[in-house]
Amino acid sequence: MNGERPTVVVLGSLNMDLVVRVERFPEPGETLLGGGFATFPGGKGANQAVAAARLGANVRMLGRVGDDAYGRELVAGLRRDDVDASRVSSSSAAPTGVAVITVDAHGENHIVVAAGANATLDARAIESASAAFEGARVFVAQLETPLDAVLAGARAARAAGAVAILNAAPAQELSADALAAFDVLVVNQSEAARLAGRRADPETLARELARRGPRAVVITLGAAGALALVDGRVERRAAFDVPVRDATAAGDAFVGALACSLAERVSWPTALARASAAGALACTRAGAQPSLPNAVELRDFLTPRV
Ligand code: RIB
Repeated sequence: MNGERPTVVVLGSLNMDLVVRVERFPEPGETLLGGGFATFPGGKGANQAVAAARLGANVRMLGRVGDDAYGRELVAGLRRDDVDASRVSSSSAAPTGVAVITVDAHGENHIVVAAGANATLDARAIESASAAFEGARVFVAQLETPLDAVLAGARAARAAGAVAILNAAPAQELSADALAAFDVLVVNQSEAARLAGRRADPETLARELARRGPRAVVITLGAAGALALVDGRVERRAAFDVPVRDATAAGDAFVGALACSLAERVSWPTALARASAAGALACTRAGAQPSLPNAVELRDFLTPRV
């Protein structure tokens, strides 16, 4: 612990997001004239690190950028948000990851990631950063960095007594052993179906995935809220109704807030309420990291509502 702030270790991607607003998404082969262009710091890993830090966690980030201007900007941004970025390494062999994003008039997005340096992270790099896990309560990873690095992180986290969370995004098939390396799995409904290998209602999917190892499975359901299966018990959380400007990083706000809440050892219903509120607030603002709420904003948003 760092004073009263519980420690969260985040392993994951750092990307510079290159964002164009469009009225609607193009058809295959179609050229569209878009609206404004902007760059925002992003990457699922860095977004979740910043989300947890803004809500009060002591966050240590593990990841890799290129030796270039985007990489330096992303690391400087993490530091401004009080994230310990001393274990974000710099590769001279690959550029910093970028995400090409279009956001339509409804705030929905299409995202294509060029992983760059994120894809060069490996298990050895994580094993040599084992000091990062000392005193950690929660570990979070996603799937924008190679799986062997993610699994090395989960092993180190469990060895240190931390709760290991996997946000399995973007979705990929995972072996039973890989899923069993985590205590908490967070996915959206389509990711859950991909992991389970079939479509079904969220509770059925959660039960099926929980049988593979995680003691808690959380499925985010967009406008239908979220469902968590924790030690066999179902908790449901309704969505907050907000005007959606840009949904980019709403899922990362959810995961970062959940990680911070579990590190603070609040109850699951409270953790789900905070995570859903963070996701809702992120939808109301443009960009990935600029959209992530801080603790005061989250408290003010929740006060009249729960
Ligand atoms: O979840 C949103 C993030 O996905 C973006 O910031 C982009 O970089 C991609 O990683």
